[in-house]
Amino acid sequence: MKVIITKDYNEMSEKAFEIMAEVVKNKPDAVLGLATGSTPIGLYKNMIKDHNENGTSYKAVKTVNLDEYAGLDVTSDQSYVYFMRDNLFNHIDIDLANTNIENGKAADRKAECARYNALLETIQQDIQVLGIGSNGHIAFNEPGTPFGSVTHIVDLTESTIKDNSRLFKSIDEVPRQAFTMGLKNIMNAKKILILANGANKAKAVFGLVKGEVTENVPASILQLHPDCTLVCDEAAAELIR
Ligand code: GLP
Repeated sequence: MKVIITKDYNEMSEKAFEIMAEVVKNKPDAVLGLATGSTPIGLYKNMIKDHNENGTSYKAVKTVNLDEYAGLDVTSDQSYVYFMRDNLFNHIDIDLANTNIENGKAADRKAECARYNALLETIQQDIQVLGIGSNGHIAFNEPGTPFGSVTHIVDLTESTIKDNSRLFKSIDEVPRQAFTMGLKNIMNAKKILILANGANKAKAVFGLVKGEVTENVPASILQLHPDCTLVCDEAAAELIR
């Protein structure tokens, strides 16, 4: 794994943007695997700025998102589909028809997982952006998720519900279940770009980079990926220096 340590969040977001820009420049019809959470917002801001200033086009790009809360759709401002439109898609020239995410409101959840897995078999991510949960989760693959997992429904752990409650009016509003790409779907990406900032990620970053490769720390599987780059700030890198 390649590790790039930056002084702060802004520098992390700039480095992440450089890596993303290279992919889109070399392949204008690239498949971008995207993530939600506060971590990649700076990367998305840089993509928007570059689109406005330099005209980088996303017209031919396709996207696949990692995960979505069960029970929420674009009408909820807490849904990940809303997040992606609000933080990126509405500000670049991407065709929304080329963007993909699990349908949180699907009546048949099993069928929705099967649909998403079938889609992922037809479009391989040229790059997959990831954040990391404080317990070492990636997407919504909580500790204990099998490395061979594909898109599935998960019961969120108390720690993830608590972490994510800061974005909701109250903890009771955080959905208890979510759809998530599995670890196998994530590992299938040609390139992985994982981002982390802040001291509360330091333990998870240690597990990601230096810990034992174990299903108890889902992010540790990335040690086995042939092209994975971690970009993190100094605070998140505290235990790996
Ligand atoms: C959620 C998302 C993850 C994300 C994590 C960290 O659980 N499902 O994809 O990486 O939160 O979020 P943040 O970047 O806000 O710390």
